[in-house]
Amino acid sequence: MPGETVVQSNACSSTTKPIPRKPGHWFWGNLFELIEDRSGFLIDGHRDYGDVFAARLVGRELICVRDPAIVNAINVTHWQDFYKPAHIKMMWKPFLGEGLVPNDGESWKRQHKLIMPGFHKQRVDAYAPRMVEFTERMIDRWQAGERRDFREEMTGLALVVVANTLFDIDIEKGDAKSIRNAMIDISEILVRDADKLVPRPSWWPTRENRRKRKAIKVVEDIIHRAIEERRRTGKDRGDLFSHMVFVEDEQGRMTEKQLRDEAMTLIFAGHETTAHALTWAWYLLAKNPDKVAKMREDLNRVIQGRRIEVEDLANLPYLEMVMKESLRLLPSVWAYAREPQRDIVIEGYEFKKGQPITISHIAMGRNPKYYDNPLEFRPERWTREFERSLPRGAYTPFAAGPRVCLGKQFAMMEMQMILGTLLQRVEPNIPEGFEPDFVTELSMHPGERGLPMDVRFF
Ligand code: HEM
Repeated sequence: MPGETVVQSNACSSTTKPIPRKPGHWFWGNLFELIEDRSGFLIDGHRDYGDVFAARLVGRELICVRDPAIVNAINVTHWQDFYKPAHIKMMWKPFLGEGLVPNDGESWKRQHKLIMPGFHKQRVDAYAPRMVEFTERMIDRWQAGERRDFREEMTGLALVVVANTLFDIDIEKGDAKSIRNAMIDISEILVRDADKLVPRPSWWPTRENRRKRKAIKVVEDIIHRAIEERRRTGKDRGDLFSHMVFVEDEQGRMTEKQLRDEAMTLIFAGHETTAHALTWAWYLLAKNPDKVAKMREDLNRVIQGRRIEVEDLANLPYLEMVMKESLRLLPSVWAYAREPQRDIVIEGYEFKKGQPITISHIAMGRNPKYYDNPLEFRPERWTREFERSLPRGAYTPFAAGPRVCLGKQFAMMEMQMILGTLLQRVEPNIPEGFEPDFVTELSMHPGERGLPMDVRFF
């Protein structure tokens, strides 16, 4: 039991605070505990050892952080001193290349500046009607009484939305299955790579690497076709990719390789995260019918049976509160990582150059210091006063500072449009006695058993 063991520290000087070390196996350290249940490891570790503790993964130390002041310093004040960890970059490289998520430094700055205007509110809001249309098409395919896996439905829907808004392609018509299967293959392989002590280089002739290369090629072919088509016609089709193909600065336009990497990154970052966030919101709503009743009351009053529009969101604050609460309690991106570029002292703790740091958003969301009754799903807590009272860094489901999620507004709007449309017609439920698994891979999802629901229309 943690707490019964002597906690060692790695104090590096008399002026810095010691970082408690979680005891572990003499050789493996905490590796297998972490692999077995990543989020549980962080939640329990912070509960037992405090807001900063060190875990050992064989010969490497991982610092786990859930202190808002430190999180804010890493994300905002000292963001230039923290890069994405080298081992994560290596894992992502064959797939995302130098895309925005793994990129750092000057190259990230340029790409970010070029791409950011593509996420301008006006452009993003213009996608709202299509998000609703795709959701309605999905619901129209459902039959009352049948059982569906909500996670699978959301993954398909989020991918259709990203493909349409990013590339202006209706993948429901052709490329859907191939992109989707390729994405599933890639996610699975990335996670398995992450769990390996010594990841094999991608040229290594294993079956897994062949599968990875094949999956990457499927998505690449679609991207290359989209680049070729934009360049040939010279036409901005209003999609994000058109913006990326034609935008330029003093160094000119993005190269084919940069476009490929950024498109891969956006497809990947932009669908699984949203799909899983919606899956958990649905699960929490199924467990809390009183919250569903409150949402339907709002929807009936504001929407009155017509299609939800982006302008309605301002009059539906509870919808946003539900998403915020869901992203606190069961976030899809449950943690993110950084690596200091120099030795740096923050809040009295010394973080060594090159030492990986995990910022545990899921553990932060369960800290009773900031969230009373943290395990209770209570959207009502998200009043303006409550948000103002939270210390900076205490709620970062999309990270924060310059490296904040580029799709944050897109995702928040998309999730509200989808949930608002669903709740006008379908009752959130899960089969009696069913409890999902909480699998924390790249994002948190309910694993192979999915999230079954019996289709019941209101
Ligand atoms: C609920 C949905 C989403 C969540 C919870 C989420 C969360 C995050 C988080 C935590 C990061 C920071 C990762 C890190 O620093 O390692 C991030 C980065 C990013 N996200 Fe999202 N995301 C979501 C949806 C989206 C969508 C829809 C898009 C695009 C259409 C997107 C595009 C990106 C990009 C491009 C970055 C990298 C930003 C940069 O470093 O410049 N995300 N996201």
